[in-house]
Amino acid sequence: MTDCTTVLNVEAFEAEAARSLPKVAYDYYRSGAWGEHTLAENIAAWQRLWLRPRCMVDVSGRDTGITLLGQRLPAPLLLAPTAMHQMAHADGEVATARAAGACGVPMVLSSLSTCTVEAVAQATSAPLWMQIYISQDRGFTRALAQRAQAAGCKALMVTVDTPVWGVRERDIHNGFRVPDGMRMANLERPGMPTGHSGSGIGAALGWTIDASLTWKDLDMLRAAVNIPVLVKGVLRGDDAVKAIEHGAAGVVVSNHGGRQLDGAVAPATALPEVVQKVAGRVPVLVDGGIRRGTDILRALALGATAVQVGRPVLWGLAAAGQPGVERVLRLLMEEFSLAMALAGCSRVSEITSDLIHAKP
Ligand code: FNR
Ligand code: LAC
Repeated sequence: MTDCTTVLNVEAFEAEAARSLPKVAYDYYRSGAWGEHTLAENIAAWQRLWLRPRCMVDVSGRDTGITLLGQRLPAPLLLAPTAMHQMAHADGEVATARAAGACGVPMVLSSLSTCTVEAVAQATSAPLWMQIYISQDRGFTRALAQRAQAAGCKALMVTVDTPVWGVRERDIHNGFRVPDGMRMANLERPGMPTGHSGSGIGAALGWTIDASLTWKDLDMLRAAVNIPVLVKGVLRGDDAVKAIEHGAAGVVVSNHGGRQLDGAVAPATALPEVVQKVAGRVPVLVDGGIRRGTDILRALALGATAVQVGRPVLWGLAAAGQPGVERVLRLLMEEFSLAMALAGCSRVSEITSDLIHAKP
């Protein structure tokens, strides 16, 4: 599509993306694991949190900005790491990074990207972080972490909810594999599988993760770099505490967009316990099912420092490339600003838990 300014919300972008993407790509992006119950609940759980707006507050001079790991951001919003952007657009993660830069929104690059971390770093003026899967080859993972740091990444985000790949049945049905002509640009090793064979992500990209992962591997990764390492994929307070004990600079409450353990609790439901146990020691990020500015408001009211969006970015990219991603990010930020105004908040620090209607 050439003009995406008439697309009014993230849901409409998904409809555009569904029209423009080949089925195998759309299914890969949208899928959840097994029965997709967690996928559905991720969205529904935010909607169950009804809001208690304050009235008669001067919201004329609103500031949606926050500071995260010492960096000033225009909104509590980041791009979650998602794999293989060239399936959505020929320019892949470079197009996404340009959009992130234009909006000043940090991007977390997936280690399963189709553009190199160096090319993506060149393409964005916003902070770039890199997501890391600790692979069976620990030496390779350490080298990748150091490569990301050398490319200018300001933080690493290690994903801890993938000891094995969740089963996305649509992918198996479609025979999903890394499409011909696309590279896992940061993961190439001489003589190793490239992901072009197999059916479903487990067969295609099995070596990139490791079922023997434990907290000591976080220690290993932290020792390899001198940028902050955040832990992504925590759903329990005790795990968040362990992450902090092992030096995590932040935690991300996430169930991988419902793509790993089907039946896992929604981030909106898990967040309060994690926030309570973390007790302000490190930032708490959250992702999964954020589709509106009101969801960002809800997440912050529950104590999150910022949110990440995964699929919404892919829908923008598939629908209209860089301008599509920009439009998605600006829509979310504008909705968030308006939601703040309507809830009687002029700055992010005023988004407190009393904005959420307590359950009877
Ligand atoms: C992901 N996610 C993900 N996470 C990660 O740590 N590394 C990765 O490479 C990917 N890849 C990936 C691909 C696709 C197609 C999706 C949909 C998701 C998970 C992602 O970072 C995030 O947790 C979820 O996408 C958040 O949920 P929403 O915003 O998509 O609902
Ligand atoms: C996925 C992996 C790449 O969810 O994180 O497909």
